[in-house]
Amino acid sequence: MKIIVVKDYEAMSELGAQIIENTIINNPSCTLGLATGSSPIGTYQRLVKAYEDKRISFKGVKTYNLDEYCGISRSHPESYYYFMHDNLFNHVDIDEKNVHIPLVSNDNLEQDCKNYNDLLNQTTIDLQLLGIGANGHIGFNEPGTPFSQETFIVKLTDKTRQDNKRFFNSIDEVPTHAITMGISNIMKAKRILMLISGKNKADTVVRLLKEEIDPDFPASVLHKHPDVTVIIDQDAYSKI
Ligand code: F6R
Repeated sequence: MKIIVVKDYEAMSELGAQIIENTIINNPSCTLGLATGSSPIGTYQRLVKAYEDKRISFKGVKTYNLDEYCGISRSHPESYYYFMHDNLFNHVDIDEKNVHIPLVSNDNLEQDCKNYNDLLNQTTIDLQLLGIGANGHIGFNEPGTPFSQETFIVKLTDKTRQDNKRFFNSIDEVPTHAITMGISNIMKAKRILMLISGKNKADTVVRLLKEEIDPDFPASVLHKHPDVTVIIDQDAYSKI
């Protein structure tokens, strides 16, 4: 695991975007695994700028998102489908048919998981972008999820729902379940890039860097992956 400590969120986003930009330049038809949440927003803004400046094109790029909430529609402003279009896809030349985000039909969730898992099994992700939950979750693989887990429906923990409450009017509106790539899907990516920022992740970073591999801290599985880069800002690194 390669750790890079940078000054702040802006520097993290700059470096994150550079790594993704280089991936696209080296392979214009690469496959990216993408994340939502606060951590990658600055990175996406810089990728949009790189597209506007004609340094990169997304025409041949394929994307697979980590997760999607259950119980809200794709048109809901807090759905991850909406987030990805609002923050990235609507502003670049990506072909919509190359965009993959778990489709939650809400009447057959098991089938929805199987469909997404089949799609993932038919592809290889060249670079997977990840954030990390304060409790160590990656995607929505909450503490205790087996490392062998494939795409599944997860009941979100109270901690994760509280953490995500900031995007909704009240805790009651925060979905209780989500579909997420499993840890095993994430680990199949050729390269992994994790972004960690902010004082609220300082304890999380301490635990991640302990190198103790434990399903109670899902991100610890990344120590088993051969090509992981973690960009951490000084606030998140402040307890090391
Ligand atoms: C998002 C995702 C989550 C987030 C994590 C951190 O698609 O899968 O694992 O990466 O909850 O979220 P932020 O970046 O908002 O702190």
